[in-house]
Amino acid sequence: KRVGVLISGRGSNMMSLVEAAKAPDYPAEIVVVVSNRPEAPGLAWAKDRGIPTIALDHRTFRSREEFDDQLHRLLLAARVEIVACAGFMRLMTPELVANWHNRMINIHPSLLPCFKGLHTHERALAAGVRISGCTVHAVRHEMDTGPILGQAAVCVAANDTAESLAARVLAAEHKLYPQILRLFASDQILLDENAVITKHSFP
Ligand code: GRF
Repeated sequence: KRVGVLISGRGSNMMSLVEAAKAPDYPAEIVVVVSNRPEAPGLAWAKDRGIPTIALDHRTFRSREEFDDQLHRLLLAARVEIVACAGFMRLMTPELVANWHNRMINIHPSLLPCFKGLHTHERALAAGVRISGCTVHAVRHEMDTGPILGQAAVCVAANDTAESLAARVLAAEHKLYPQILRLFASDQILLDENAVITKHSFP
């Protein structure tokens, strides 16, 4: 399957997908990386490796609708079949989400439905949870919602700071996202309207 990855910054999850996709039997190929921030380090990384990249600066668009419309056109032009959001820090219009219904996935650094949104690790620590983790889910219009495709748990240490927890969760993200994309791209995870029909054990 042809995959487009959306980023806004560092792009380490995108890098983990690119690295995984090098395996000859991997069922997905990263055909384009799009960033809404031209200066995103991940964009330069992908470009250096010969992956087609697009800088789509949201500040140059008059509205969210126009930005999302152009993003959709570019993904279609690249013949993208699956969109993988990886630290893409933009709210999306209902139209864009609908256009990629069950074909757009995202990674979030918590065990959803807990701790949606920003400052995830600070809030997890403040809540005193002993286990956190990360989630890959299909994208729905409401932020960080949608059928859960896979999760990985990470233990919270007594002396964790938001930074140390973030680093440990990020390492789990880098394992989980390529695993789930592999299953999703090879139709081993199937999505009904709001349910996940699995043909595998959750990693
Ligand atoms: C990751 O923690 C991801 O879960 C969240 O934003 C962060 C992006 O990091 N959505 P990177 O750009 O993939 O390095």
